[in-house]
Amino acid sequence: MTIARPTPTRDTTVLPEHVARLTVGVLGGTGPQGRGLAVRLAAAGQRMLLGSRDADRASEVAAEVAERAATAASGIEVSVRGGSNIDVAGASDLVIVAVPYAGHAATLAELATPLAGKIVVDCVVPMGFDELGAYVLDVEEGSVAQQAAALLPDSHVVGAFHHLSAVLLEDLSRHTLDGDVMVVGDDRASMDVVQALAGRLPGMRGIYAGRLRNARQVEALTINLVSVNRRYKAHAGLRITDV
Ligand SMILES: NC(=O)c1ccc[n+]([C@@H]2O[C@H](COP(=O)([O-])OP(=O)(O)OC[C@H]3O[C@@H](n4cnc5c(N)ncnc54)[C@H](OP(=O)(O)O)[C@@H]3O)[C@@H](O)[C@H]2O)c1
Repeated sequence: MTIARPTPTRDTTVLPEHVARLTVGVLGGTGPQGRGLAVRLAAAGQRMLLGSRDADRASEVAAEVAERAATAASGIEVSVRGGSNIDVAGASDLVIVAVPYAGHAATLAELATPLAGKIVVDCVVPMGFDELGAYVLDVEEGSVAQQAAALLPDSHVVGAFHHLSAVLLEDLSRHTLDGDVMVVGDDRASMDVVQALAGRLPGMRGIYAGRLRNARQVEALTINLVSVNRRYKAHAGLRITDV
Protein backbone atom coordinates (compact mmCIF):
# COMPACT_ATOMS: atom_id res chain seq x y z
CA MET A 1 0.00 0.00 0.00
CA THR A 2 1.31 3.44 -0.85
CA ILE A 3 0.88 6.20 1.73
CA ALA A 4 -0.03 9.50 0.07
CA ARG A 5 2.63 12.12 0.69
CA PRO A 6 1.33 15.42 2.05
CA THR A 7 1.95 18.41 -0.12
CA PRO A 8 2.29 21.97 1.20
CA THR A 9 -1.14 23.58 1.39
CA ARG A 10 -0.17 27.10 0.42
CA ASP A 11 -3.25 27.78 -1.68
CA THR A 12 -6.13 28.29 0.76
CA THR A 13 -8.60 27.29 -1.96
CA VAL A 14 -7.46 23.67 -1.55
CA LEU A 15 -8.22 23.75 2.17
CA PRO A 16 -11.02 21.33 3.07
CA GLU A 17 -14.16 23.42 3.36
CA HIS A 18 -15.01 22.11 6.83
CA VAL A 19 -11.65 23.38 8.14
CA ALA A 20 -12.02 26.80 6.52
CA ARG A 21 -15.34 27.25 8.28
CA LEU A 22 -14.04 26.46 11.78
CA THR A 23 -13.87 29.18 14.40
CA VAL A 24 -10.49 28.76 16.08
CA GLY A 25 -10.03 29.94 19.66
CA VAL A 26 -6.74 30.51 21.46
CA LEU A 27 -6.53 30.23 25.25
CA GLY A 28 -3.83 32.64 26.41
CA GLY A 29 -4.23 34.36 23.06
CA THR A 30 -2.78 37.62 24.37
CA GLY A 31 0.78 36.21 24.53
CA PRO A 32 3.30 36.11 21.68
CA GLN A 33 2.57 32.54 20.60
CA GLY A 34 -1.20 32.94 20.62
CA ARG A 35 -1.04 36.31 18.86
CA GLY A 36 1.40 34.95 16.30
CA LEU A 37 -0.74 31.92 15.41
CA ALA A 38 -3.83 34.14 15.36
CA VAL A 39 -2.40 36.79 13.05
CA ARG A 40 -1.21 34.19 10.54
CA LEU A 41 -4.41 32.13 10.59
CA ALA A 42 -6.62 35.23 10.47
CA ALA A 43 -4.66 36.55 7.49
CA ALA A 44 -5.39 33.22 5.78
CA GLY A 45 -9.12 33.71 6.39
CA GLN A 46 -9.67 31.65 9.56
CA ARG A 47 -12.20 33.13 12.01
CA MET A 48 -10.27 33.64 15.27
CA LEU A 49 -11.21 34.20 18.92
CA LEU A 50 -8.53 35.24 21.41
CA GLY A 51 -8.99 34.22 25.03
CA SER A 52 -7.56 35.72 28.19
CA ARG A 53 -8.11 35.73 31.93
CA ASP A 54 -9.20 39.33 31.31
CA ALA A 55 -11.81 39.78 28.58
CA ASP A 56 -10.99 43.48 28.07
CA ARG A 57 -7.32 42.67 27.48
CA ALA A 58 -8.35 40.01 24.98
CA SER A 59 -10.52 42.49 23.08
CA GLU A 60 -7.70 45.04 22.90
CA VAL A 61 -5.21 42.47 21.65
CA ALA A 62 -7.75 41.03 19.20
CA ALA A 63 -8.27 44.49 17.66
CA GLU A 64 -4.49 44.90 17.18
CA VAL A 65 -4.13 41.40 15.72
CA ALA A 66 -7.05 42.01 13.34
CA GLU A 67 -5.50 45.25 12.13
CA ARG A 68 -2.15 43.60 11.44
CA ALA A 69 -3.74 40.53 9.82
CA ALA A 70 -5.73 42.79 7.49
CA THR A 71 -2.51 44.32 6.14
CA ALA A 72 -1.36 40.83 5.09
CA ALA A 73 -4.70 39.37 4.07
CA SER A 74 -4.93 40.80 0.54
CA GLY A 75 -8.68 40.80 -0.05
CA ILE A 76 -9.55 38.08 2.48
CA GLU A 77 -12.05 39.04 5.17
CA VAL A 78 -10.36 39.12 8.58
CA SER A 79 -12.21 38.25 11.78
CA VAL A 80 -10.49 38.34 15.19
CA ARG A 81 -12.41 38.93 18.41
CA GLY A 82 -11.50 38.62 22.08
CA GLY A 83 -13.15 37.28 25.22
CA SER A 84 -12.58 35.43 28.45
CA ASN A 85 -10.96 32.00 28.13
CA ILE A 86 -14.22 30.34 29.14
CA ASP A 87 -16.30 32.25 26.59
CA VAL A 88 -13.77 31.56 23.87
CA ALA A 89 -13.71 27.85 24.76
CA GLY A 90 -17.48 27.74 24.46
CA ALA A 91 -17.75 29.74 21.23
CA SER A 92 -14.94 28.04 19.27
CA ASP A 93 -15.05 24.87 17.19
CA LEU A 94 -11.36 24.14 17.82
CA VAL A 95 -9.20 25.56 20.59
CA ILE A 96 -5.44 26.08 20.75
CA VAL A 97 -3.92 26.11 24.25
CA ALA A 98 -1.17 28.75 24.45
CA VAL A 99 -0.81 29.48 28.17
CA PRO A 100 2.45 28.92 30.08
CA TYR A 101 2.96 25.41 31.46
CA ALA A 102 2.63 26.82 34.99
CA GLY A 103 -1.00 27.73 34.25
CA HIS A 104 -1.86 24.80 31.97
CA ALA A 105 -3.56 22.36 34.34
CA ALA A 106 -5.53 24.99 36.26
CA THR A 107 -6.74 26.63 33.04
CA LEU A 108 -7.97 23.40 31.45
CA ALA A 109 -9.46 21.97 34.65
CA GLU A 110 -12.14 24.68 34.50
CA LEU A 111 -12.92 24.20 30.82
CA ALA A 112 -13.78 20.50 30.48
CA THR A 113 -17.47 21.25 29.87
CA PRO A 114 -17.16 23.98 27.18
CA LEU A 115 -14.39 21.98 25.47
CA ALA A 116 -16.29 18.67 25.41
CA GLY A 117 -16.54 17.19 21.92
CA LYS A 118 -14.03 19.71 20.50
CA ILE A 119 -10.52 19.46 19.14
CA VAL A 120 -8.02 20.92 21.61
CA VAL A 121 -4.57 21.65 20.18
CA ASP A 122 -1.85 21.91 22.80
CA CYS A 123 1.40 23.74 21.97
CA VAL A 124 2.57 24.14 25.56
CA VAL A 125 6.19 23.27 26.32
CA PRO A 126 7.21 22.14 29.83
CA MET A 127 10.40 24.18 29.99
CA GLY A 128 12.56 25.38 32.81
CA PHE A 129 15.70 27.53 32.83
CA ASP A 130 18.71 27.37 35.10
CA GLU A 131 22.38 28.38 34.90
CA LEU A 132 22.94 25.70 32.23
CA GLY A 133 20.14 26.98 30.02
CA ALA A 134 16.78 25.51 29.05
CA TYR A 135 15.68 22.05 30.19
CA VAL A 136 12.55 19.92 30.07
CA LEU A 137 10.34 19.67 33.14
CA ASP A 138 8.90 16.30 34.19
CA VAL A 139 5.16 16.00 33.60
CA GLU A 140 3.43 13.32 35.64
CA GLU A 141 1.13 12.29 32.79
CA GLY A 142 4.11 11.85 30.42
CA SER A 143 3.63 15.09 28.46
CA VAL A 144 1.66 18.31 28.58
CA ALA A 145 -0.65 17.04 25.84
CA GLN A 146 -1.37 13.89 27.85
CA GLN A 147 -2.07 16.07 30.87
CA ALA A 148 -4.62 17.93 28.72
CA ALA A 149 -6.18 14.64 27.63
CA ALA A 150 -6.49 13.55 31.27
CA LEU A 151 -8.18 16.83 32.21
CA LEU A 152 -10.43 16.88 29.12
CA PRO A 153 -11.68 13.30 28.76
CA ASP A 154 -14.44 14.32 26.33
CA SER A 155 -12.22 16.39 24.00
CA HIS A 156 -9.93 15.28 21.16
CA VAL A 157 -6.49 16.44 22.25
CA VAL A 158 -3.81 16.96 19.61
CA GLY A 159 -0.26 18.24 20.12
CA ALA A 160 1.04 20.71 17.49
CA PHE A 161 2.68 24.13 16.86
CA HIS A 162 5.54 23.63 19.35
CA HIS A 163 8.40 24.31 16.95
CA LEU A 164 7.26 27.68 15.62
CA SER A 165 8.93 30.83 16.82
CA ALA A 166 6.46 33.45 18.00
CA VAL A 167 8.86 36.10 16.73
CA LEU A 168 8.62 34.77 13.18
CA LEU A 169 4.88 34.17 13.40
CA GLU A 170 4.36 37.81 14.38
CA ASP A 171 6.78 39.21 11.80
CA LEU A 172 4.51 39.65 8.79
CA SER A 173 7.39 40.98 6.71
CA ARG A 174 8.34 37.29 6.53
CA HIS A 175 5.97 36.08 3.85
CA THR A 176 6.87 32.43 4.36
CA LEU A 177 7.72 30.57 7.56
CA ASP A 178 9.65 27.69 6.01
CA GLY A 179 9.10 24.78 8.38
CA ASP A 180 6.83 21.91 9.32
CA VAL A 181 4.42 21.31 12.16
CA MET A 182 4.72 17.93 13.88
CA VAL A 183 1.21 16.81 14.82
CA VAL A 184 0.61 14.08 17.43
CA GLY A 185 -2.68 12.59 18.55
CA ASP A 186 -4.96 9.59 18.69
CA ASP A 187 -8.06 10.66 16.79
CA ARG A 188 -7.54 10.39 13.04
CA ALA A 189 -10.22 12.90 12.01
CA SER A 190 -8.92 15.50 14.49
CA MET A 191 -5.37 14.97 13.25
CA ASP A 192 -6.50 15.60 9.68
CA VAL A 193 -8.14 18.88 10.71
CA VAL A 194 -5.08 20.09 12.62
CA GLN A 195 -2.73 19.10 9.79
CA ALA A 196 -4.90 21.08 7.37
CA LEU A 197 -4.95 24.03 9.76
CA ALA A 198 -1.15 23.96 9.99
CA GLY A 199 -1.10 24.10 6.21
CA ARG A 200 -2.76 27.52 6.40
CA LEU A 201 0.49 28.93 7.84
CA PRO A 202 2.46 30.17 4.85
CA GLY A 203 5.21 27.75 3.83
CA MET A 204 4.29 25.14 6.42
CA ARG A 205 2.86 21.65 6.38
CA GLY A 206 1.22 19.65 9.13
CA ILE A 207 2.99 16.30 9.37
CA TYR A 208 1.66 13.27 11.24
CA ALA A 209 4.24 12.49 13.94
CA GLY A 210 2.68 9.70 15.98
CA ARG A 211 0.16 9.02 18.71
CA LEU A 212 -0.38 11.24 21.73
CA ARG A 213 1.96 9.09 23.82
CA ASN A 214 4.74 10.46 21.60
CA ALA A 215 3.98 14.09 22.52
CA ARG A 216 6.76 14.10 25.10
CA GLN A 217 9.55 14.01 22.51
CA VAL A 218 7.88 16.67 20.35
CA GLU A 219 7.46 18.99 23.33
CA ALA A 220 11.00 18.36 24.57
CA LEU A 221 12.53 18.93 21.13
CA THR A 222 11.43 22.55 21.44
CA ILE A 223 14.01 22.91 24.17
CA ASN A 224 16.77 21.85 21.78
CA LEU A 225 15.51 24.54 19.40
CA VAL A 226 15.63 27.11 22.20
CA SER A 227 19.25 26.08 22.81
CA VAL A 228 19.98 26.50 19.08
CA ASN A 229 18.38 29.93 19.17
CA ARG A 230 20.43 31.08 22.14
CA ARG A 231 23.72 29.86 20.65
CA TYR A 232 23.16 31.09 17.09
CA LYS A 233 20.87 34.04 17.78
CA ALA A 234 18.27 32.48 15.52
CA HIS A 235 14.57 31.56 15.45
CA ALA A 236 15.07 27.96 14.40
CA GLY A 237 12.28 25.70 13.14
CA LEU A 238 12.08 22.17 11.80
CA ARG A 239 11.70 20.72 8.31
CA ILE A 240 10.84 17.03 7.88
CA THR A 241 12.67 15.74 4.82
CA ASP A 242 11.62 13.14 2.23
CA VAL A 243 7.93 13.64 2.95
N1 LIG B 1 6.79 31.99 22.52
C1 LIG B 1 7.17 31.03 21.67
O1 LIG B 1 7.98 31.26 20.75
C2 LIG B 1 6.59 29.63 21.81
C3 LIG B 1 6.92 28.66 20.85
C4 LIG B 1 6.36 27.38 20.96
C5 LIG B 1 5.51 27.09 22.02
N2 LIG B 1 5.23 28.05 22.94
C6 LIG B 1 4.34 27.70 24.05
O2 LIG B 1 3.17 28.49 23.91
C7 LIG B 1 2.70 28.88 25.18
C8 LIG B 1 2.50 30.38 25.18
O3 LIG B 1 3.74 31.00 24.97
P1 LIG B 1 3.88 32.58 25.15
O4 LIG B 1 5.29 32.91 24.91
O5 LIG B 1 2.83 33.26 24.36
O6 LIG B 1 3.55 32.65 26.73
P2 LIG B 1 3.18 33.84 27.72
O7 LIG B 1 3.26 35.14 27.03
O8 LIG B 1 3.98 33.66 28.96
O9 LIG B 1 1.66 33.48 28.09
C9 LIG B 1 0.62 33.56 27.16
C10 LIG B 1 -0.62 34.12 27.84
O10 LIG B 1 -1.07 33.20 28.84
C11 LIG B 1 -1.73 33.91 29.88
N3 LIG B 1 -1.19 33.45 31.15
C12 LIG B 1 -0.03 33.80 31.76
N4 LIG B 1 0.13 33.15 32.93
C13 LIG B 1 -0.98 32.37 33.06
C14 LIG B 1 -1.42 31.46 34.07
N5 LIG B 1 -0.68 31.21 35.17
N6 LIG B 1 -2.61 30.84 33.89
C15 LIG B 1 -3.36 31.07 32.79
N7 LIG B 1 -3.00 31.95 31.81
C16 LIG B 1 -1.82 32.56 31.95
C17 LIG B 1 -1.47 35.38 29.65
O11 LIG B 1 -2.66 35.93 29.12
P3 LIG B 1 -3.71 36.74 30.04
O12 LIG B 1 -2.91 37.41 31.14
O13 LIG B 1 -4.26 37.72 29.06
O14 LIG B 1 -4.65 35.72 30.52
C18 LIG B 1 -0.40 35.42 28.58
O15 LIG B 1 -0.53 36.52 27.70
C19 LIG B 1 3.71 28.40 26.23
O16 LIG B 1 3.23 27.26 26.88
C20 LIG B 1 4.94 28.06 25.41
O17 LIG B 1 5.63 26.94 25.93
C21 LIG B 1 5.74 29.31 22.87
